[in-house]
Amino acid sequence: MARTSRIKQYHAPGRVNLIGEHTDYNAGFVMPIAIAMGCDIRVSAVKKPVLHLTSRQYPGEMIFPLEAIPAMKKTGAWVDYVLGVAKEIAALGMELQPMKLEINATVPTGSGLSSSAALEVSSALALLDGRHLSKLELARLCQRAERNFVGMPCGIMDQYASVHGEEHKAIMLDCRSVTHQLVPIPDGAQIVVANTMVKHELGSSAYRERVAQCQEALSHFPGKEALRDVTLGELERTASKIAEIPLARARHVILEDLRVENFLAAAGKSDLEAMGRLMVESHRSLQHDYEVSCEELDFLVDTALTIDGVFGSRMTGGGFGGCTVSLVAPEAAQRFESELAARYEARYALKPAIFRCTAAAGARRVA
Ligand code: GLA
Repeated sequence: MARTSRIKQYHAPGRVNLIGEHTDYNAGFVMPIAIAMGCDIRVSAVKKPVLHLTSRQYPGEMIFPLEAIPAMKKTGAWVDYVLGVAKEIAALGMELQPMKLEINATVPTGSGLSSSAALEVSSALALLDGRHLSKLELARLCQRAERNFVGMPCGIMDQYASVHGEEHKAIMLDCRSVTHQLVPIPDGAQIVVANTMVKHELGSSAYRERVAQCQEALSHFPGKEALRDVTLGELERTASKIAEIPLARARHVILEDLRVENFLAAAGKSDLEAMGRLMVESHRSLQHDYEVSCEELDFLVDTALTIDGVFGSRMTGGGFGGCTVSLVAPEAAQRFESELAARYEARYALKPAIFRCTAAAGARRVA
């Protein structure tokens, strides 16, 4: 009897963070939405005991013997995200299955929209291929892959948002309890993402440095587990003992957590003006206290704020390039997009990709 090869397909979304930046690794609050763009993986069976990888974005084919994967060293290329996930699955005592993964990423790499988490989570679903892990375990496994194998000391936000995304809802995630509540996005708010199309090199080393500076600030508060536990008053009273840079980083983290809580309250009242103001405050804090913005991001935010119908705008994601997220009145969105694009292009001779976003569902099997 002829055997038909059954192809399955898994999808994991990228994310846009509305507010709460660089708070996740300080046990704080974040509020991302999953987006329609992400990563799709087609899974098919292969006869040999190998993992066969192809990517629509990167030419070539890669074939790894399954038995070699648990001991593999990182390669520095995109496959590390897949291999890191495979290693974590093997570390759980689950057997890796022979398969071919055809990867197609629709979220642009380096855009700050979590192309890495989308690749990790879709790889995990593909490699598990129906074997059950809880959503939280799935997110945590992918975070471990990035921290342990890729070597990026990231928080849980991106992987969590990719797994738990819900249509029309933002995810208010408490990164300490690692639980969330869903936040309806008020009518009258269009989320618009604008990509600077730049990615400055210092990104990953600066990220590591910020994580260390937060730890340094925290070391002045014995008995506290994370900057989440330090109040603004406590920070002010200890300020003279903390060096200027870690002090500024801690100020950002403490105030950003408060902003997320205020944003949640404002969203509950559909107070778009207040939500917008908090986004701008978040951006200024990331620009001046956390120092993870860049000229192009600041230009997009500053320009956005001069356009009618804009409630607020800020950089989103790790920083040093990537995207801004703006909250715009729906009737103003088209003019906003064309004016922002024209002014950015006139300044940087680069066409920014600008697109409207709605909150999308999380990772799943799609075929
Ligand atoms: C990156 C990390 C996240 C988070 C953001 C900044 O996206 O992967 O864990 O720290 O930066 O908010």
